[in-house]
Amino acid sequence: MKKLVITGGAGFIGSNLVRLALERLPQMEIVNFDALTYAGNLENLAGLESHPRYRFVKGDVASPEDVAKAFEGDVAGVLHLAAESHVDRSIQDASAFVRTNVVGTQVLLDAARRKGVAKFVHVSTDEVYGSLGATGKFIEETPLAANSPYSASKAGSDLLARAAHHTHGMPVCITRCSNNYGPYQFPEKLLPLVISNALENKPIPVYGDGRNVRDWLYVQDHCEALLRVYEAGKPGEVYNIGGNNELENLYLVKQVLSLLGKPESLITFVKDRPGHDRRYAIDASKIRQDLGWEPAHRFEQALPKTIEWYRNHEAWWRHVKSGEYRDYYERQYGKRS
Ligand code: NAD
Ligand code: TYD
Repeated sequence: MKKLVITGGAGFIGSNLVRLALERLPQMEIVNFDALTYAGNLENLAGLESHPRYRFVKGDVASPEDVAKAFEGDVAGVLHLAAESHVDRSIQDASAFVRTNVVGTQVLLDAARRKGVAKFVHVSTDEVYGSLGATGKFIEETPLAANSPYSASKAGSDLLARAAHHTHGMPVCITRCSNNYGPYQFPEKLLPLVISNALENKPIPVYGDGRNVRDWLYVQDHCEALLRVYEAGKPGEVYNIGGNNELENLYLVKQVLSLLGKPESLITFVKDRPGHDRRYAIDASKIRQDLGWEPAHRFEQALPKTIEWYRNHEAWWRHVKSGEYRDYYERQYGKRS
C-alpha cells in the first residue's frame, strides 16, 4: 500500500490532518512521523492506535537515520508540518527553531528526493511575510520579511523547499496559512490559553494594547486545503491559505469571555511581545481560483464549537497544562527510547 508521511502529526494541525487524511485517502497508509517534543501529544490521536492504515514512527526530522525509518516502503508523498511553532519560545531561545525548522526541513527534502516522492507539501506560514500596516493583504509574491526567530526559521525552510524544486526539480508545493483555531491546540497559543484560563477563572494575558490583528481560520479548513494542495497543487507553486476573518486580539478575547459568560475583568494587559507583528491578512484568491478551495466554516459557528470542544475535553487540556500528557506514549507504546 502506498504511504503518505505526515510530519508533526502529533501536534495541533498535524493530528487534525492525520484524522482527515485517513478519512479522505482510503487507499493510503498514513505514517505519522513525530519527535514528540513538548508540543507533540499522542492523546490527540487517541483511538487510532489500532487503525489498520495508521502507523506512528517516533523520530526527529533533523536525524537522517530517523527519517529513513519513516521513509521505509512505498512513500508516495510527504506533508511536512513538524516544526517548533511558538513565537514566544523562539524569543527565549531560537536554537531548536533553527535545528528543527531549517536543518530538519533540508534533511527531509534530501530523503524525499532520494525516494523520488511524487509530491512534497511544505507547510509554511503567513508569518514569513512579516507585518502589514492598516491596509493591504499578503499575496504569494509579497517579499518574505520575517520578524521573529520563529518566522525567520520558517522563511529559511520555505526557501529551502523552493530551492529543492528550482534546483532539483522536486515536486514541491508550499503553503502559507494564517492563524488556526480548533480542537487539540496547545494551550500556550492565544485561543486555547484564553478558553482554558477563563474556565479556571484565571487572568488572561493580553500583550500590549491588544489591537494586533490576526486572520483566523478553523483548523479543519486548513487541513482540507492541505489535502487539496497535496492532490492537485502544481509543483513549484506557493498557495496562500486564509480565513478572510481579521480580528483584533482584544475583540477575540472579549468574544470568548462573553460566550463563556465570564467577566472582562479577567483581562490583564501585560508587557508587549518584543517585535510583535501588528497585522497579518491573507489574500487566498489563488487557491480558490486554481484549486477550488475556500473555507467551509464560518467564525460565528466555529468559535462557539471550538469553545464547546474545550469545555467537553477538560481532561485533555488539564493533562497538557499539568504535563501528564507526556505519560500517554508510555501507556500506549511502552517506554520511550
Ligand atoms: P504544534 O507545535 O502544535 O506541533 C508541532 C509538532 O511537530 C509536534 O507534534 C512536535 O512534536 C513535532 N516536532 C517538533 N519538532 C520536531 C522534530 N525535530 N522532529 C519531528 N517532529 C517534531 O504546531 P502546529 O500549530 O500544529 O503547526 C504545524 C505546522 O503548521 C508548523 O509547521 C507551523 O509552522 C505551521 N503553521 C501553523 C499555524 C498555526 O496557526 N498553528 C499557521 C500556519 C502555519
Ligand atoms: P499566538 O497564538 O502566539 O500566535 P502568533 O503569534 O503566531 O500569531 O498569538 C496570537 C496573537 O495573540 C498574537 O498577536 C500575540 C497575542 N497573544 C496575547 O496577547 N497573549 C498571549 O498570552 C498569547 C499567547 C498571544
